[in-house]
Amino acid sequence: MGYKDALNIEDLRRIAEKRLPRVAYEFLAGGTEDDVTLQHNRAVFERIRFRPRTLVDVSGRSQQVSVFGKTFSAPFGIAPTGAAGLYGFAADIALARAAREAGVPFVLSTASFEPLEKVAREAAGGTLWFQLYMSKDRAAARNLVTRALDAGYEALIVTTDVPVQANREYNRRNGFTIPFRLNLANMIDGALHPHWLFGVFLRTLLDSGIPRFQNLDTNVGGRIIAKPIDEFRARREALDWSDFRWLRELWPHKLFVKGVLRADDALLALQHGADGVFISNHGGRQLDGAISPLEALPEIRAAVGRRLALVVDSGIRRGSDIVKALAFGADMAFVGRATLYGIAAGGEAGAQHAIGILRSEIERVLALLGCPSLRELNADYLWHPDFTPVPAVAPGKSASLASLAARP
Ligand SMILES: Cc1cc2nc3c(=O)[nH]c(=O)nc-3n(C[C@H](O)[C@H](O)[C@H](O)COP(=O)(O)O)c2cc1C
Repeated sequence: MGYKDALNIEDLRRIAEKRLPRVAYEFLAGGTEDDVTLQHNRAVFERIRFRPRTLVDVSGRSQQVSVFGKTFSAPFGIAPTGAAGLYGFAADIALARAAREAGVPFVLSTASFEPLEKVAREAAGGTLWFQLYMSKDRAAARNLVTRALDAGYEALIVTTDVPVQANREYNRRNGFTIPFRLNLANMIDGALHPHWLFGVFLRTLLDSGIPRFQNLDTNVGGRIIAKPIDEFRARREALDWSDFRWLRELWPHKLFVKGVLRADDALLALQHGADGVFISNHGGRQLDGAISPLEALPEIRAAVGRRLALVVDSGIRRGSDIVKALAFGADMAFVGRATLYGIAAGGEAGAQHAIGILRSEIERVLALLGCPSLRELNADYLWHPDFTPVPAVAPGKSASLASLAARP
């Protein structure tokens, strides 16, 4: 089965599972510890139901959204994913181009294998945002931010839910550590996945040598099998809002905090000059047991009103998930694994296919829901055993729902 045969994101995941060696697949699909949050993210989406309207003219429906005055052709973008080059050749560039092709934003991770300048060049014309893993060392942080600015990135996303590395036990079992140590089991597993071995690993080696976190080169130069990036991560656990304030002074464009799950933190972000937040639990990969972003979204929208752009990620596998997030009050959604599965299954074309699947699902859901435009989408279209929908205040997609967190 090739990527073109995939009818949904789950099909792409299955292809990825077959094609990738275990060490790479588990790093992509896994959560952390007992995967409680990974599974919970899905469970929350699935518990929410639609209340469709009928006999509504939906022939002219549109899924365009505008965020910060910029219009995107679909209400989702591609979230930052480090080490994406493990799954596809030059995957960071492939993802950025797939996003450009589809008219949606792409967020490049600090931990990409490609230098941020190259991605900006190769995907020029697309909407490119840069995700910052901030160092407490301000010289290192300033260097990276200045590079992103000079390369033309339009927004900066500061990820704040990784003060320390998560406890991903599969990585330790698989010998996936940084620095990376090739052990016999990994080598055999790689050899058993020839599509990946030749199409990704050896091709990358021939093209640009051993994969490196190239954005960190000027500070520590880490090859993933050689030098740890600990120096860059150094004292990340000491970061606080004063560092964010400092960053705000440095970065002249739109600035997001990624990893917010509480209304009080969203308010702090606002006070310290953020333009938006990513309501995210990092796809269930950081704190196992954390709530789902959808559980946090209503209280955050209620607290900040329209003063912050609110985007949601973690667990999105269907267009209907995106419609639910928007009906709950999100301005936009982001996907991490969905497009990475596409990359693993079929490179840039596979990522485009993943985007196409989500877009057509959204299109169909809007029609079946009797909602011709995302502007009209609100919580009145949703049903959940623990809340009574209150008609939204158009066009603000009101957050007047009881929090899903109250659920048994
Ligand atoms: C393989 C992988 C690598 C990731 N790397 C980063 C990263 O470098 N920076 C970051 O802010 N988030 C990272 N994330 C989290 C994503 O940005 C996003 O929050 C998450 O994938 C959303 O959940 P989903 O995969 O269920 O869509 C990563 C996620 C995955 C799956």
